[in-house]
Amino acid sequence: MTVLRAFKWTSVNKNCIAALALGMMTGFIAAYLILSPPEYIYQELSDPHTSSQLEGLAGPINDPGSHNNDEIFHRMENSSVADYLYQQVRVLCWVMTGPKNHEKKAKHVKNTWGKRCNILLFMSSQEDSSLPAVALPVKEGRNNLWAKTKEAFKYVYKHHMNEADWFLKADDDTYVILENLRYMLMVHSPSEPIYFGCRFKPFVKQGYMSGGAGYVLSKEALRRFVEEGVPNKTLCSQSASGSEDVEMGKCMERVHVTAGDSRDALGRGRFFPFVPEHHLIPGHVSKDFWYWKYIYYSSKEGMDCCSDNAVSFHYVSPNQMYVLEYLIYHLRPYGISYHVDMPTVTQEQTMEIAGNE
Ligand SMILES: *[C@@H]1O[C@H](CO)[C@@H](O)[C@H](O)[C@H]1NC(C)=O
Ligand SMILES: *[C@@H]1O[C@H](CO)[C@@H](O)[C@H](O)[C@H]1NC(C)=O
Repeated sequence: MTVLRAFKWTSVNKNCIAALALGMMTGFIAAYLILSPPEYIYQELSDPHTSSQLEGLAGPINDPGSHNNDEIFHRMENSSVADYLYQQVRVLCWVMTGPKNHEKKAKHVKNTWGKRCNILLFMSSQEDSSLPAVALPVKEGRNNLWAKTKEAFKYVYKHHMNEADWFLKADDDTYVILENLRYMLMVHSPSEPIYFGCRFKPFVKQGYMSGGAGYVLSKEALRRFVEEGVPNKTLCSQSASGSEDVEMGKCMERVHVTAGDSRDALGRGRFFPFVPEHHLIPGHVSKDFWYWKYIYYSSKEGMDCCSDNAVSFHYVSPNQMYVLEYLIYHLRPYGISYHVDMPTVTQEQTMEIAGNE
């Protein structure tokens, strides 16, 4: 009898708890679905997909140091073409960051891909000579990104205009392969009014370049932006807020800077708004995700997604920067080598050709 009662009790208890749990779960899921934008649901499936998700990811606690290049492969490596392009296609990189991220993110950009820029600057609101970071006269926060972008390009134009041919804007969670950027740019003249990046379709007639994947302005594009666009309210938004990349796109179009096609000869993209995994694994970026509506050129998922000469990836955590650095610049399959010839057409020759026409 006692046993039976006890049993009944537990069974009632179990049912109650199950019902309560079910109710709570349904409630939570409903609240979650109602309150969260689609992007947020997506996040649970994988690694960082938005800047805010990267916030918590601090960089390595211990300094990863540098890779010993005194290996047979590295000694056999021939970088003379890349070295030549470093001189011929000078790229100034400026990286959008903030005081909170100097240590957490900017430092790791400098330790990895940033060192391959001809000039590397971090745009912040606080100076830091070790990076170096520039203190721009702007407030921090998402609402000031457009103001910060304008100030950054103004600063670069004023102080470094003649020290580079191309001017790259990247975020502190963008990873850039500079050699491939120079290779793409080498057939263009810096006096062409053009800019390149991951081209998106909406809001601007000729499209605009995704902010996170980074975009690169020719010297002439920079001149037009700073001299003609920024000071003129009919050409560029005078507000501090607004989507930095969309505003940039509108402004570029109005000063007649062409939105360039950054795809390779096989039609594969070079600038990517997500980490490689999200482009390489089919279905990782779900079909109704905004990306597919935004992307200007039809692009594939899977192993054929990306150019062998890819230039950039976005939402790369500080740790992943070191992983990419290792995979791209150090890990080599034994017995496979490749050779590139010294390019015959450089930007100066392109300029001459253009001038002769
Ligand atoms: C601003 O741009 C418009 C359109 O190009 C032009 O007509 C106008 O003269 C410019 N204003 C100034 C102050 O330069
Ligand atoms: C390195 O590559 C360049 C370009 O192909 C070539 O001209 C040069 O002879 C190579 N140097 C060595 C040491 O193999």
